[in-house]
Amino acid sequence: MSQPKKISRRDAIKCAIKYAGVSAIGAAATYIGIKLWPEQKTLSIAPLQKNRQAANPQNKTNMKVLLVNGSPHKKGCTYTALSEVAAALEKDGVTAEILWLGIDSVAGCRGCGTCRSTGRCILNDSVNATAEKVAEFDGFVFGSPVHYAAASGFITPFLDRLFYSAGKHFAGKPGAAVVSCRRAGSTAALEQLNKYFTISNMPVAPSQYWNMVHGNTPDEARKDLEGMQTMRTLGQNMAWLLKCIAAGKAAGVGLPAYEARVATNFIR
Ligand SMILES: Cc1cc2nc3c(=O)[nH]c(=O)nc-3n(C[C@H](O)[C@H](O)[C@H](O)COP(=O)(O)O)c2cc1C
Repeated sequence: MSQPKKISRRDAIKCAIKYAGVSAIGAAATYIGIKLWPEQKTLSIAPLQKNRQAANPQNKTNMKVLLVNGSPHKKGCTYTALSEVAAALEKDGVTAEILWLGIDSVAGCRGCGTCRSTGRCILNDSVNATAEKVAEFDGFVFGSPVHYAAASGFITPFLDRLFYSAGKHFAGKPGAAVVSCRRAGSTAALEQLNKYFTISNMPVAPSQYWNMVHGNTPDEARKDLEGMQTMRTLGQNMAWLLKCIAAGKAAGVGLPAYEARVATNFIR
């Protein structure tokens, strides 16, 4: 059997520069154990990152929206889109907080069913931390980059476990999904994320277009003027919906009294 060829650090870097450019430099650096970029890490919800946009004191409400960034990039395109929604919310008097899920993997749902009796996920991480805070928020925006025409592998397990263990607490609270992509797959990813709302008795906040921005960098996303406007309109509509729901509650119109759940599996 042939032995794997040993390669020096210098040769690895030279080879990378010659043949494949920046991404290969990254690969070569990883191979020989050099860290080119500082490590990002966080999986905890505390402290939630406060959005710094100035609120209009005239129309300040006591309502809050949680915006979840399911991108591996803390301040990438998804964050850029979410920030635009957050700024529009703040302008309309709604407090907006952005939570980044981080880059340490969020484990998938084990389907153990423990949450059915305890109301908590057996894996005690950002999912439970978020579930504990759901009551504090009046609306939710879930943001994700498009990865292979789907939502990211960070937000999907997070939402699976959050909604499986605490889905009933979202009822009546408006939700919206936001995606960022270079080119395609955005509508599939949006549809995927919107399904968490429509199975949980949540009204879905609309916009003037489907909630997507296009770009590979935050700068490119910002240049997607229509995408950015779509985000601002979404923020306005979410604030409007929240105020309508609050006005309805004040007038005695609350959540419907739902029937006891029927669960019919397709086995007969
Ligand atoms: C693993 C991976 C898969 C991707 N798949 C797609 C895709 O299917 N369609 C697309 O248009 N862009 C795709 N992209 C590009 C990202 O969606 C795009 O750069 C996005 O705006 C990044 O957002 P972020 O900065 O918040 O991570 C992919 C990126 C990665 C890393």
